[in-house]
Amino acid sequence: MIIRNETGSDMEAISKVTIAAFKSLAISQHTEQFIINALRKANALTVSLVAEIDGQVVGHIAFSPVTISDGSTGWYGLGPVSVFPEHQKKGIGKSLIHEGLSLLKKKGGQGCVLVGHPDYYLRLGFQNIRN
Ligand SMILES: CC(C)(COP(=O)(O)OP(=O)(O)OC[C@H]1O[C@@H](n2cnc3c(N)ncnc32)[C@H](O)[C@@H]1OP(=O)(O)O)[C@@H](O)C(=O)NCCC(=O)NCCS
Repeated sequence: MIIRNETGSDMEAISKVTIAAFKSLAISQHTEQFIINALRKANALTVSLVAEIDGQVVGHIAFSPVTISDGSTGWYGLGPVSVFPEHQKKGIGKSLIHEGLSLLKKKGGQGCVLVGHPDYYLRLGFQNIRN
């Protein structure tokens, strides 16, 4: 597997993996692919990485700037993050998250927030604000 920045020819593959990953999620409105396209159009897709196996996009992650209520700057939002169902639980999501956070740090990022399942993200170093 390789992880690389998206290119102009990845748009359709990114939509496909996003639709497939969220398809069976009850909490999803199934609009995640539109969010990615809207962020890109607004020039707010700070980091957009794909995971590729044998030339096929099997995963994607997006990071975009967020506004923090206390005025802190340099923060980003993680998501959506998607891995094709048949490729899940092999470490691809984790790799995309680690690589994305590392790129944000290199860009001077100060922090990253997300809305997601605590069981998954606590293992990746995130903290639940309610704790
Ligand atoms: C969430 C998602 C991106 C994770 O990708 P993945 O490649 O399956 O994740 P990884 O294999 O890197 O998993 C990392 C760890 O989390 C665990 N894990 C994976 N999915 C999990 C889940 N839904 N709940 C709890 N733990 C989970 C894995 O078992 C693994 O544990 P380990 O480190 O002990 O081996 C992927 O499952 C997905 O596309 N889900 C549907 C879309 C979605 O929910 N996106 C996130 C919205 S916030």
